[in-house]
Amino acid sequence: MRGHTERLAAPLSPEDQTVQSMPDVSPTKWHRAHVTWFFETFVLADNEAGFAPYQDQYWFLFNSYYEAVGPRYNRAERGVISRPGAHDVGRYRGNVDERFRTLVDGLDQGSLDKLAGTIELGFHHEQQHQELLLMDIKHVLSLNPLQPVYAGAPAERSEPDGLGWVDVEGGLVEIGHRDAGFSFDNELPPHQVWLEPFRMADRLVTNGEWLAFMADGGYRRPELWLSDGWAQVKTHGWAAPFYWIELDGVWFEHTLHGTFPVDPGLPVSHVSHYEADAYAAWAGKRLPTEAEWEHAVRSDDAQAEVAGNLADTETYHPRAAGPSTGRLRQVYGDCWEWTSSAYLPYPGFHPAAGAIGEYNGKFMSNQMVLRGGCALTPPGHARASYRNFFPPGARWALSGVRLADGGVRA
Ligand SMILES: [Fe+2]
Repeated sequence: MRGHTERLAAPLSPEDQTVQSMPDVSPTKWHRAHVTWFFETFVLADNEAGFAPYQDQYWFLFNSYYEAVGPRYNRAERGVISRPGAHDVGRYRGNVDERFRTLVDGLDQGSLDKLAGTIELGFHHEQQHQELLLMDIKHVLSLNPLQPVYAGAPAERSEPDGLGWVDVEGGLVEIGHRDAGFSFDNELPPHQVWLEPFRMADRLVTNGEWLAFMADGGYRRPELWLSDGWAQVKTHGWAAPFYWIELDGVWFEHTLHGTFPVDPGLPVSHVSHYEADAYAAWAGKRLPTEAEWEHAVRSDDAQAEVAGNLADTETYHPRAAGPSTGRLRQVYGDCWEWTSSAYLPYPGFHPAAGAIGEYNGKFMSNQMVLRGGCALTPPGHARASYRNFFPPGARWALSGVRLADGGVRA
């Protein structure tokens, strides 16, 4: 898992790895260092005999948001830090890995059991940053007029098929993590929710459908928009998804494999929650709640195995849904799916004690939940109960739209 981070960074030069193209984006080398800081801080510091930080100032530079650990460098200015360079960060990673191995090799089973939860959290934390590293470098490269390619090649162009619907029974259902294996604290505790019967779209909204929304004045009709969303349309001049550019009347899309004409058969991606909601209003539908999403997925035995266009396909871009199956398609992978649910604690949620409790709980305000995973999500990091979250105006994440309908008491 640690090696995979380095493989993702390998196509990027030290200069690529230094750029912070906007405050939401972190430089690649910062991601590589920060996930290392996590192991140094939460595993080595309290358990390594004679612990001393690899470098005192790294604690300041590579702390993301943990108030309990101490002060930290201003997030929006990570891109002005030229030292340590990308190679120095590699040495930091190597040093912490070596100390980590020595520590773990020397622990008795009881001590290892006590530390296992934190180590596992560190691995899942690093996987989150593997995804962010790709989302962030996509933005960095998108600003370069030379249109550099990160990796991969576009899929063959595809024709969109019709949108189908899957009926889902309602009732008293259980959501939240209750399976074997890892979960973050925000997926707990499992609890019951009442759902009226509803329908879920069997695939994501496509670029072709989005072009129809645009042609029908989707970005010019305030009646379709939440008030905050309409304010952002006007402030930022939104007229298309984040990575679309119009050249001589043709829409192009920036991807990690270059800039290409928009493919109408692919899922629309890099739209905010506000855009997703406006599209649903235009289509006469709505976004699913996160409980509906999770219940629909758990009710579909075709989704028993977590599989799809995740990062291991190395397409690094959403793919077409393929022929209708009568079941849900594109559940795991392709695009994170906006839900209409605010990111809130589940009933009975308690953050862990200490600094690690800052991981999720303190962000439960002013954000919306996304479900499913995307083409940049590492396999093993997607599951039915996984709750991703972003502010409703965020567009640089690989986010898309699945519609829902019904759910009204008969
Ligand atoms: Fe982090």
